[in-house]
Amino acid sequence: MSFDLASRLSERRAAQLYRQRPLLQSPQGPSVQVDGRELLAFCSNDYLGLANHPQVIEAWQAGAARWGVGGGASHLVIGHSTPHHELEEALAEFTGRPKALLFSTGYMANIGVVTALVGQGDTVLEDRLNHASLLDAGLLSGARFARYQHNDIDSLNLRLQKAAGNTLVISDGVFSMDGDLADLPALCAEAKRADAWVMVDDAHGFGTLGATGGGIVEHFGLQQDDVQVLVGTLGKAFGTAGAFVAGSEELIEAMVQFARPYIYTTSQPPALACATLKSLELLRTEHWRREHLSELIRRFREGATALGLELMDSPTPIQPILVGDSGRALRLSQMLRERGLLVTAIRPPTVPAGTARLRVTLSAAHSFEQLDRLLEALGECCPQLANEDATHA
Ligand SMILES: Cc1ncc(COP(=O)(O)O)c(C=O)c1O
Repeated sequence: MSFDLASRLSERRAAQLYRQRPLLQSPQGPSVQVDGRELLAFCSNDYLGLANHPQVIEAWQAGAARWGVGGGASHLVIGHSTPHHELEEALAEFTGRPKALLFSTGYMANIGVVTALVGQGDTVLEDRLNHASLLDAGLLSGARFARYQHNDIDSLNLRLQKAAGNTLVISDGVFSMDGDLADLPALCAEAKRADAWVMVDDAHGFGTLGATGGGIVEHFGLQQDDVQVLVGTLGKAFGTAGAFVAGSEELIEAMVQFARPYIYTTSQPPALACATLKSLELLRTEHWRREHLSELIRRFREGATALGLELMDSPTPIQPILVGDSGRALRLSQMLRERGLLVTAIRPPTVPAGTARLRVTLSAAHSFEQLDRLLEALGECCPQLANEDATHA
């Protein structure tokens, strides 16, 4: 047989890298029903607790009643409706940029933007820990593609010196599996010196960073002149789905003309845009969500450090616990599950070999008591894992 999928699957299983989908039988939230069990979840990207917010649900329902449920066609045909347009205007205003453009998913936005901006003869330089969609976009673009060492400006500089054609430097704002921030002030200065453009995917920064939730660009006080291309996703802190790119009029017009995943796909349901308009309003007005989240992050880091756990340099709701070996990460996740907690083990190829981890994510919807339950469980499970290691050694 030419497609030997069975051996590929069994190799994956043997390497402790097999993926399984937990079946969620309830809405998103701290307490979820998964595979028939009530669990306390610390693995969703619903950082502000908006995915199941009554007002967002109401906006979706009212939107469906007013606009129907389907987008009907692509934006360029007859699928660009008033709610999409209003959401784009609101996102432009939110990001302080002349224009914004909606995409159906963040993956599509990244593929669309990069392939529309660069091609043969150009250069794409990316942080080696960028999200898969950005790395795929760079490869697909046909431009010369290189990765620099994580957050390492000297390593970027070396590659900038060899760049040819239009050069696009691309970075996650908040690194999705580590939770740390891109060193954007230094990165933007370096790119400017080399006459390169900067594209930031702030999927995990919008709503969580910056005084008004404006993300990493607001956090560092950067302008459009520093970050020419700004991408955000709507399935995380916004609690809905989709993505956007924000920038100059010219940039957005070029995306409408050349970004294939924008042009050749049905627009997202207009009711979804109605829901996102509401979640954007909540994100901008309910500051207590970000404040509570900050307090949870502080409390988690303090508690985990007291337990002797190895944390990463993350000021964000993404707080991974580095384990190393994939089998051990799975085992720790399983132990927590036995205690009623859901924390996903993240393994290669999502993260580099030997850096498997539990990706703890916090949400404004978590209470301090729920966080304390997680810390208590980690306080029991981590020593138990170490004991098991010692027994097997
Ligand atoms: C940094 C980053 N960019 C893009 C995406 C993709 O966004 P979406 O889920 O909307 O496709 C994700 C995760 O989903 C992400 O973490």
